[in-house]
Amino acid sequence: FPQAVIFDLDGVLTDTAEFHYLAWKQLGAELGIEVDKALNEQLKGVSRLQSLERILAAAPVPPVLTAEEMEHLAAKKNAHYTALIASVTPNDILPGIAALLQELRAAGLKLAVGSASRNAPFVLERLGLDSAFDYVVDAGRIQRGKPDPETFTNAADHLKVPYESCIGVEDAAAGVEAIKRAGMFAVGIGSAQTLRQADYLVTATELLSAEHILAAYSRWIDKA
Ligand code: BG6
Ligand code: MG
Repeated sequence: FPQAVIFDLDGVLTDTAEFHYLAWKQLGAELGIEVDKALNEQLKGVSRLQSLERILAAAPVPPVLTAEEMEHLAAKKNAHYTALIASVTPNDILPGIAALLQELRAAGLKLAVGSASRNAPFVLERLGLDSAFDYVVDAGRIQRGKPDPETFTNAADHLKVPYESCIGVEDAAAGVEAIKRAGMFAVGIGSAQTLRQADYLVTATELLSAEHILAAYSRWIDKA
């Protein structure tokens, strides 16, 4: 039986993935770089500075910038983003998530958040979910971001749960890769094309149920 579930935040608990996209799009427009949906898929789950590097690399003529200039642009994006998340409320918890958290708790599982975002504590507070989890990994606690497994192994280590007894839930390709590299069971939310490595996939959060996830986990662990 699994012992813990580690949730990504942006795009899983709430649709702040869309706000990150809009904020990067706005910064891109200021720089004359088009940030489209395809490029955005490459940014999901990826840290602020790394996302900026990928956007700059997509420019027709990639600019060469100093570390200070990079920091300045990253801060500008974050200003766009923080303006967008200021209005987040508990109504913005994605469909099916509140019920799922309750079902998993009732089943005796520990719950954690594994986010790459420095804004994670603020967003969780806005959602009214700051006391819903036993542990929150945000970007400040780890050395290496997704797709490195550290976000997920850090949560498991803190909860004192073996990796194969953990379930990770992600909407990003980099996040699913991180879960698999941690040796955990990966639940993907999105398209099969993007989240190829997921062990169990749904196209939207309202399709998540503790019963289905636990049954899929049992099949996976029995095969291992
Ligand atoms: C991740 C998002 O959760 O956090 C990424 O999926 C984002 O899009 C990253 O770049 C870092 O977030 P922040 O809030 O620290 O800029
Ligand atoms: Mg995400």
